[in-house]
Amino acid sequence: MKVPFSPPRMDQKIVDEVVDTLWSGWITTGPKTKKFEKMLTVYAGHKSTLCVNSATSGLEIILRWFGVGPGDEVIVPAYTYAASANVIVHCGAKVVFVDSGNDFNISIEAVAKAITTRTKVIIPVDIGGYPCDYDELNELVRKEDVKKLFHASTDTQKELGRILILSDAAHSIGAVYKGKKAGSLTDITVYSFHAVKNLTTAEGGAICLNLPEPFDNQSIYDLLNIKSLHGQNKDALAKMQIGNWKYDIIEAGYKNNMTDIQASIGIVELKRYDSDMLVCRMQIFDKYSDAFSKCSWAILPEYETQEKCTSYHIYMLRIKGITEEQRDAIIQKIFEHEVAVNVHFVPLPLFSFYNGLGYRMEDYPQAFQNYSHEITLPVYYDLTDEMMDAVIKAVTTSVESIINL
Ligand SMILES: Cc1ncc(COP(=O)(O)O)c(C=O)c1O
Repeated sequence: MKVPFSPPRMDQKIVDEVVDTLWSGWITTGPKTKKFEKMLTVYAGHKSTLCVNSATSGLEIILRWFGVGPGDEVIVPAYTYAASANVIVHCGAKVVFVDSGNDFNISIEAVAKAITTRTKVIIPVDIGGYPCDYDELNELVRKEDVKKLFHASTDTQKELGRILILSDAAHSIGAVYKGKKAGSLTDITVYSFHAVKNLTTAEGGAICLNLPEPFDNQSIYDLLNIKSLHGQNKDALAKMQIGNWKYDIIEAGYKNNMTDIQASIGIVELKRYDSDMLVCRMQIFDKYSDAFSKCSWAILPEYETQEKCTSYHIYMLRIKGITEEQRDAIIQKIFEHEVAVNVHFVPLPLFSFYNGLGYRMEDYPQAFQNYSHEITLPVYYDLTDEMMDAVIKAVTTSVESIINL
């Protein structure tokens, strides 16, 4: 039985909503994008949402809004997807990688040690959908000695008066930390709706604004809306109103807007996300954990505790005591069973670009340890019981053939 890694969920409801948009006469950013934004705000309980065309563009636009540039430092885990760090490079700031904990997420202890007078932003990443330790992070940036280190160089930075926490929640829409949903856990959060994500719009993302007073999140939404559309002070829909064609360009903005075609998919998916998609993914996680808990070589991912609940994005199994080469050999064997698996993530210092900038893997030992033992198993809506059984069998026989049990 062939098991692909992560096909998107597709059904008639999605097709109908997209077709409705296609025939509506409005296919770019318009009423459906605005509706999806409002739904997301209610869903996660933050203050305002701007939909964009990817998480990457959402992260970058926030770094630029906060005035991050040359001479500044941004802290990010070494263990993440390249997008989380590339945006820092785009802004001309210095990427400061830190190590992870055993739960794959950024180590708060390592973050505390990495803060300098140049630190402007911390980008924690909810790896696999599991929330980071947000209380500790939020407390850290509010500590008097840490605030004293903060040198504000723009009005926005002065207004905040401390390091900004910009959460990369590309994986974690629907995850819960101490009763609150990802999106409302810190200053600003960015979701991804890329094709392989739990909630997809084919490509897309959203910026969840949750800034403390004195910020007015609605006026920041308005500003970011302009920034994400060429710096144009009226969007396409407003310009189409009779007699309203004149507009101004108030800055050299970007082109990051979400289309109503994308938002249509998101609207259908979000309505049934908690009651259907998350339940289905939870059952897959539970089935894998149940099966692999019987294997002495398996390290199961932590995904539910009293305080935290994952969004069940990816199931990150680890195999005890193996080398990176053995892990690769196990993956090769699993593929021979026609089961597609993956690795999340190759830590960024291992890539030629970041290695070429001087980052060394030895400086992030827990990230390397997590990576070299990890195999990501398929989790998606249409994964049947038989397919899960095929995954469990392929993984078990492949691991046991390589580690000679
Ligand atoms: C952790 C993380 N951050 C950011 C992104 C970027 O998301 P997008 O493709 O929507 O830009 C991804 C994409 O896979 C990701 O895994």
